[in-house]
Amino acid sequence: MTLQLNDEAPNFTAKTSEGDIDFHKWLGNSWAVLFSHPKDFTPVCTTELGILAKLKPEFDKRNVKVIGLSVDELGNHKTWSKDIEETQGYKPNFPLIADDNRKISDLYGMIHPKANDTLTVRSVFVIGPDKKIKLTLTYPASAGRNFDEVLRVIDSLQLTAKHKLATPANWKPGEDVIISTTVSDEEAKKQFPQGWKTLKPYLRVIKQPTDK
Ligand code: BEZ
Repeated sequence: MTLQLNDEAPNFTAKTSEGDIDFHKWLGNSWAVLFSHPKDFTPVCTTELGILAKLKPEFDKRNVKVIGLSVDELGNHKTWSKDIEETQGYKPNFPLIADDNRKISDLYGMIHPKANDTLTVRSVFVIGPDKKIKLTLTYPASAGRNFDEVLRVIDSLQLTAKHKLATPANWKPGEDVIISTTVSDEEAKKQFPQGWKTLKPYLRVIKQPTDK
């Protein structure tokens, strides 16, 4: 069954490059990015893991844990980490799950047989502190992911978890945001006393609150 937004992220136990984990215990009260990459010792994956290691402080700042997965063995993850450091300048500083029996890949629908019946595709799951799935992305093996975009969506998710707001197309933190259509003007006056600009009754624009 395909996992959908607001489904609970299924729990599992796993061997990782940083020791055995119970996923829900490992999550604790944090947000998380669970991502799969097709295979160790492949070029695009090498660049993705290097970039993620470089961006780790940005995920930490947002209280987001990062965890990777492929169907490779633990020994491969450890050897490959040295190549990633050598070629990308950053060594993976987050756990990599060794899903050699494909238990977790199957649980999360990370194997798409029409793309490849043995390897995981490039899946991304953003999971909230309530353990619910907040975002899913699926990329083919040939396209490396843009992790700045993942951070941008996390900023939107964290903002809209706190306020009845939405973020417009191509929004970046600090830019104007939109009052949710579920909020009446009456209610908006109480929630946003600083006021807003009404472009259309359904399109009310407001400065981003500073307390994200
Ligand atoms: C890559 O990461 O470059 C890759 C992974 C799987 C198949 C082909 C390429």
